[in-house]
Amino acid sequence: MEPIRISTPLAEAELYSYGAHLARWTPRGHRPVLYLSPRSLFTPGKGIRGGVPIIFPWFGPKEGAAAHGFARTSEWSVESQRTLEDGRVEIALVLANVRFRLTIGLELKMELETTNVGKDVLVFEEALHTYFTVGDVEQVTVAGLEGAEYLDKTDDYQRKRQAEEPIRFDRETDRTYVNTRSTCTILDPSWERRIVVEKSGSASTVVWNPWIEKAMAMSDMEPDGWKQMVCVETGNIGENAVRLAPGESHTMTATIRVE
Ligand code: BG6
Repeated sequence: MEPIRISTPLAEAELYSYGAHLARWTPRGHRPVLYLSPRSLFTPGKGIRGGVPIIFPWFGPKEGAAAHGFARTSEWSVESQRTLEDGRVEIALVLANVRFRLTIGLELKMELETTNVGKDVLVFEEALHTYFTVGDVEQVTVAGLEGAEYLDKTDDYQRKRQAEEPIRFDRETDRTYVNTRSTCTILDPSWERRIVVEKSGSASTVVWNPWIEKAMAMSDMEPDGWKQMVCVETGNIGENAVRLAPGESHTMTATIRVE
């Protein structure tokens, strides 16, 4: 599998038409922002471990079907690619009625647009399953979800409420925060940086770190890969699934910057 490589004065990036999968994005003057597992497979039928898998049209496991939907293991077509006047590169990829538009520069903008081209109501879940690379996850905090409700996958999907404090990581963390449109900030003291994830058209945010045992059980992850990553996923999941009447469109956007 060969990626589309982008190298401009503003950023470097690698994008696969397989899954419309952004694997790397490094704004100039910064460390890479996305975690990409050195053991990731780039094999048809398998998801790429890291970067930004596109989760659509369902999130999580589904009986008789692949977890997290088929978009991440489908071949998308590149619809357009151009350089904007300010030097950012805009690329759009399509898969049937779904368009993914990336604008790559010092900031990264990702837009997932779905149109209901059918005659019936279309209901779907979606997520931009963004893997962020961090210096040491045990020192990281994620702010922006204080007081929000979440389903705790590590505790039988029990519904809980986030305390009025940022999230810290000291065990497996797998939470779907619902009914939240907030901006999230990943504070990474060991690399002295902040990653800001702003979103629109999204009412759910997933926060995931597999921790030690789950990472060991994943063949496409290095045993200590969990230390260097955290997923903060912009989505519409479960009770926040999107419902579109025939002819309607919906766009979910995530904008990421490093400070
Ligand atoms: C997260 C889920 O979004 O994705 C986790 O909340 C899951 O439960 C993780 O383990 C990775 O999923 P996959 O299918 O890419 O291994």
